[in-house]
Amino acid sequence: MKRIVVTGGLGYIGSHTVVELQLAGFEVIIIDNLSNSSKDVLKGIVNITQKEPTFVELDLRDKQATISFFTKYDNIDGIIHFAASKAVGESVVNPLLYYENNVTTLITILQQIQKKENIPFIFSSSCTVYGQAEQMPIPENAPIQQAYSPYGNTKQIGEEILLDTTKAVNGLQVISLRYFNPIGAHPTAEIGELPIGVPQNLVPFITQTAIGLRKELAVFGNDYPTKDGTCIRDYIHVVDLAKAHVIALKRLLSKTNTESFEVFNIGTGKGSSVLEVIESFERVSKQKLNYSITSRREGDVVAAYANTTKANTILGWRAISSLDEAMLSAWNWEQKIRKTN
Ligand code: NAD
Ligand code: UD1
Repeated sequence: MKRIVVTGGLGYIGSHTVVELQLAGFEVIIIDNLSNSSKDVLKGIVNITQKEPTFVELDLRDKQATISFFTKYDNIDGIIHFAASKAVGESVVNPLLYYENNVTTLITILQQIQKKENIPFIFSSSCTVYGQAEQMPIPENAPIQQAYSPYGNTKQIGEEILLDTTKAVNGLQVISLRYFNPIGAHPTAEIGELPIGVPQNLVPFITQTAIGLRKELAVFGNDYPTKDGTCIRDYIHVVDLAKAHVIALKRLLSKTNTESFEVFNIGTGKGSSVLEVIESFERVSKQKLNYSITSRREGDVVAAYANTTKANTILGWRAISSLDEAMLSAWNWEQKIRKTN
């Protein structure tokens, strides 16, 4: 059985990917420092898969502890690297935290695995690298824009580090997945997104408003040059996104990749406006959402949705869940966690 290390495996996207990996027959070793997750997530993973992954509590900023980990687990077959800090606003206030947690830790891991032969490596990148792209839907070869935030910059730097390292280290094979907007939860409602404090992202803010934790959703601007004036994004169900990792991993393990560093957009290819997301929520939850239009949020791009042709044809992957399915899963998850907490 192939053994895969998943850093940040108790986080939102990581936990859904651990589930898909286990269901696909992989053995999983999770590294997480619990800075944005909890050990309870393991229970959810076990409830879905009937299998307990190995969990190692480790802060990847601790270089010695990371070296010890890779010495102990010296027979691994792949790494999926999710662990990072991801709050855009916080990265503006505390950029060094972001460069340390997102860039230094990547370097430490690469230093360890470059000593081993042929370990497939999958990196969590983001559509944020495109900024406001001129071409819509956005293809992978669209120009990378000046990063708006230190967080976004860590993703750009991460990809550059990986590209340079694959050129220099024989055998290192990397796939960088540029996620569009992950939303939703596992259909069993055993795992999902657990934002700490006031959610910055649209969908958890919607579900927290509907459950009564927030008074009202502020829609950030309706004067954009779009169909209804609100911004357009590509919202992808987190389970579809998780499955893309398993497929990318299999590509590297079977050595069918054509270049040592490959990049794929992971989105649905469909753009939805903020108002369409609200309508979808109202449809599936059968209730009205309390919202009002406010001014634009600084740093928001007008529109971003993926050209997924490369992932569809080369990876053989495509998103299958609809926006309604994703919104319903997010709503079921919100109701479940508020009932149990
Ligand atoms: P998340 O915060 O839910 O998960 C990240 C996990 O990594 C958490 O469990 C956290 O405790 C852990 N972690 C953080 N720093 C660590 C460290 N130093 N050592 C060990 N563990 C550490 O985030 P997510 O939404 O699941 O995102 C996963 C990855 O995908 C991140 O790299 C993120 O930047 C990227 N990404 C996320 C989105 C999104 O909208 N969620 C979009 C694009 C890219
Ligand atoms: C944000 C991050 C981006 C990250 C992405 C991951 C910023 C500026 N960008 O992007 O770096 O990669 O999440 O998913 O934070 N909205 C509201 N009201 C709200 C919240 C959001 O109207 O309370 C709107 C936003 O203006 C946007 C859309 O909803 O048009 C989606 O917002 P969000 O979920 O924060 O994602 P992004 O802005 O795409």
